[in-house]
Amino acid sequence: MEISLGDRLAESIRDDGPMAFGPWVEACLYDPDGGFYAAGGSAGRRGDFLTSPEVGPLFGAVLARWMDARWEALGSPDGFTVVEAAAGSGTLARAVVAAEPTCLTEGRYVMVERSAALRSVQPTNAMFPGVSLSSVAHLADVGCISHGVVLANELLDNLAFGLLEVAGGRWHEVLIDREPAASAGEFREVLGGPVDPPAPVDAAACDPGARIPVQAESAIWVDTALGLLGVGSVLIVDYTSTTSAMAARPPSEWLRTYRGHERGDVPTNAPGTQDVTVEVAVDQLPDGAVVATQAEFLGAHGIAELVDEGRRIWEERAHLGDLMALRARSRVTESEALLDPSGLGGFTVLEWVRSSKVRSQ
Ligand SMILES: C[S@@+](CC[C@H](N)C(=O)[O-])C[C@H]1O[C@@H](n2cnc3c(N)ncnc32)[C@H](O)[C@@H]1O
Repeated sequence: MEISLGDRLAESIRDDGPMAFGPWVEACLYDPDGGFYAAGGSAGRRGDFLTSPEVGPLFGAVLARWMDARWEALGSPDGFTVVEAAAGSGTLARAVVAAEPTCLTEGRYVMVERSAALRSVQPTNAMFPGVSLSSVAHLADVGCISHGVVLANELLDNLAFGLLEVAGGRWHEVLIDREPAASAGEFREVLGGPVDPPAPVDAAACDPGARIPVQAESAIWVDTALGLLGVGSVLIVDYTSTTSAMAARPPSEWLRTYRGHERGDVPTNAPGTQDVTVEVAVDQLPDGAVVATQAEFLGAHGIAELVDEGRRIWEERAHLGDLMALRARSRVTESEALLDPSGLGGFTVLEWVRSSKVRSQ
């Protein structure tokens, strides 16, 4: 009989003692035999949560314009590489390729997705002849990118993170232990010894029980992406905050779980059955990014023009009611969702530019 992820985690804690929060999240999301994403969890209407690419193809159409802008700023080179990390089932890749950015005519689009289940449903080259489309499991598998862009929508919020809590005026690591005298699959949080915080947030000035995330993996991911890039940009889109702001807020606001489009249980419950996600502390990421809201970024890269074009096509083709007409009309509602300042429009876009030749737009 197959042993459940919960039972395996309980066994590991029994043998080795309480587990740090980071490896706990890592197992809950990515364990190959029971992690949330290995078991088929995903973004999308039929998935567990909605993201900008899953709203519709408009987000990808605007990103295609941004890619062309970065390609032109580098002198329109052949062999331009677009790397999309956290590509999921390939929804954004489909939208970008359908928008036909010129940079891909002689370039390539590489999807990076850790989940084998999601990679298996991604679009392939055969579906889009004329475009070089490929998929790998890890960013390092892409190799060096002499000129190109690396982008990731809602990746960093899903990378494993540690957790610290204030007790006795010091930061302590939050660990996961088995519930004493409970059945094998029940867990509780306990505090480890005192540790230094990942950012200068004075524990003595925080309320007892205040918490902060430790997002070293996110910082390493951005550094790795920048390290692979010769010239071009690394672009991150995500929900963000700062370490000190999170210390002042209830952790349940910034550390969330999702399952089937509903908020899930506390992260210690039912490992592997829910998404575990955290707001990204921008002050823990490498310096030097140009920062905008998603609404500002999409505005700067022509969303209004694409929506106007959609309205025009709809007016011309409404009487036909064909797919082209319906897609054009849907741009209006998609843009409302993508630009909503209290929702997706309020997300943060961070762009690290590698080259003095790239002009910011
Ligand atoms: C919140 S989903 C976002 C999916 C998609 N980008 C979107 O916006 O709809 C996060 C995705 O990142 C993937 N992922 C996690 N760590 C990764 C890594 N190191 N490299 C590539 N993909 C990763 C997960 O498997 C999951 O599909």
